[in-house]
Amino acid sequence: MAKSSGNEQTNGAKSGDSFSRGGFILAAIGSAVGLGNMWKFPYITGIHGGAAFFLLFIVCLILVGLPVLLAELAIGRGGRGSVYSSLTKLSGSRWRGSLGFIAIAGSFFIMAYYAVVAGWTLHYAMLSFTGGLFHSGGYGDIFGNFVGSGMSVFWQFILMLISVSVLIKGVSGGIEKLNNYLIPSLVVLMLLLAAHALLHEGSGEGVAFFLEPDFGGLTAESVLVALGQAFFSMSLGMGIMMTYGAYVDKRQSLGTATIAVAGGNALYALLAGLIIFPTVFIYGIEPGEGPGLVFIALPAAFAAMPFGSLIGGLFFVVLAFAALTSAVSILEVSVSFVHDYFRIGRRTSAMLVGLLCFLVGLPFGLSLGGDAQGWLVPGGRTLFDWAEFICSNVLLPVSGLINVWFAGYVWKQAAKEAALSPVMTRIWLGMLRYVVPVLILIVLLYAIGIIRF
Ligand code: PHE
Repeated sequence: MAKSSGNEQTNGAKSGDSFSRGGFILAAIGSAVGLGNMWKFPYITGIHGGAAFFLLFIVCLILVGLPVLLAELAIGRGGRGSVYSSLTKLSGSRWRGSLGFIAIAGSFFIMAYYAVVAGWTLHYAMLSFTGGLFHSGGYGDIFGNFVGSGMSVFWQFILMLISVSVLIKGVSGGIEKLNNYLIPSLVVLMLLLAAHALLHEGSGEGVAFFLEPDFGGLTAESVLVALGQAFFSMSLGMGIMMTYGAYVDKRQSLGTATIAVAGGNALYALLAGLIIFPTVFIYGIEPGEGPGLVFIALPAAFAAMPFGSLIGGLFFVVLAFAALTSAVSILEVSVSFVHDYFRIGRRTSAMLVGLLCFLVGLPFGLSLGGDAQGWLVPGGRTLFDWAEFICSNVLLPVSGLINVWFAGYVWKQAAKEAALSPVMTRIWLGMLRYVVPVLILIVLLYAIGIIRF
């Protein structure tokens, strides 16, 4: 066991570029921890009554998140290629491989709109530190004037540029390095912010809302929202974990990695709640405020607290770091596909995909406000919302179903690749075959309006 950790380049993906053990876990956590945890999770938890919803989210992580994550990692490591080539290789069939296009398309469009919001976090971090955010009050107006503006496009471009420059450097020199710096910094900053929020007088009410369950507040819809969130927040159905799986050493335990990633993600959501809910209650904000919670309601709270521009700035830096490590992971899905399907070098693939993704994201961002908005709202929904709706509610669950079917029924070596104990293998395959598909299907049918409660 001369080299039990560190860089194991020899067993890597085709190109020889691969993650170290710890590097892979950090990168997968970096992908999972993103705007979903900091931006979406708090407000849906607020809407669905707090603590009981958080527990439900954890149950969904265990029931659906763990088995699907392991399935995607196993497929990736077994196939050792992009989503398309791994599925093709393992099933020996191109049409089955081409089902991977759903994940590739989904990840591409998600990145296109995710880069818009991730860009906002950079802008808000900058504005907080310079104090610019806190002079003029009217946070709804500030936000309203900013979305869809040239400034928003500028930050969207910067975010894409950073992501592309990381991907150009490859897996160990780019993705792994980025996560090695950002994830530990993220943890330290989160702990500081949580301590700051919790030590504040009156934080108890927020903590109680977040951690004392009241199951009366849960509805059937809460269950589906929790399932959807567990899926999104673990970066499933997007091809990410398959793509990352291809760069994992053969000797690394995927079971342990799966638990580490789910645990890291859940802990992070917990910390995010412990920062956001006390702040929300102390400053009299409605916890179920909706998507504006982070960009409109919280700045008002930061403005009112001592050292608010520092705290607010750090908060948005945390958000930006979390978003960046996710953005890189999702862009890599398309980059690795273009790289191995068209046999184009990594640098060119990353630049092409990044540019295209930026251009596709333009109308999404512009549909949210500003001058061009008028013609970007077909069917009463902004293009941004359309993209989000179709990706999260249709493409992700469909691609999740495909992966589960693939690992559960098509690819006979899945259990061998996952290398769990015999009992765990049986539980895992049982979940993949009989439980998870039903749950995902219900979420899908509910999301597109076929079933109602
Ligand atoms: N888990 C990520 C999040 O919470 C999901 C995601 C990954 C979204 C990558 C976009 C890009 O933000």
